[in-house]
Amino acid sequence: MAERAATLDVLAAEASACRRCRLAETRTNVVFGVGTPASPLVFVGEGPGAQEDATGLPFVGRSGRLLDTLIEQELGVTRASLYIANIVKCRPPGNRNPQPDEVEACTPYLEAQLQTIAPALVVALGAVAARFLIGPELQITSARGKFFETRFGTVMPTFHPSYGLRQGGSAVTAMRADLVTAKLYLKERGRWS
Ligand code: URA
Repeated sequence: MAERAATLDVLAAEASACRRCRLAETRTNVVFGVGTPASPLVFVGEGPGAQEDATGLPFVGRSGRLLDTLIEQELGVTRASLYIANIVKCRPPGNRNPQPDEVEACTPYLEAQLQTIAPALVVALGAVAARFLIGPELQITSARGKFFETRFGTVMPTFHPSYGLRQGGSAVTAMRADLVTAKLYLKERGRWS
């Protein structure tokens, strides 16, 4: 555990000075990721928004508050006992989607995070993260709640919390069901206490 934390600290320090892509020019803070280094579950979003850029922490805006609520109500834990990261660590201006060369430049950080944490399950938040982690043809509506074996390990997509905020109702119900599915998966593998 201490070793994983130390490795993540080194990676975060490296990322904080990163200039591998143009997002370095407009970012305020690098949003590396936070949580428990031995978490059985890692959430992966797309990239930081304005509040994440301002604070250096992932999912702290409105969509982050929905994510926190769903984690607490469906998983029965707080975000601090899991791990949350993004594909790109710096905010794309105007919250546009990250461009392929930005994703490519940033991928080594996520790969190193996942290798260090070695979670039993990665939950991809939204279509952009899911397509990156699983495959470009993925349709989030049909793929959500299902498990995919990838080079990043086992990945289950669910809707992005900002989609949940926009849609409400059935989208949030689906996200709740997906988190319960994730918890059962981890319990069956002895990775959830
Ligand atoms: N959306 C994301 O994909 N990631 C964040 O950290 C915040 C909003």
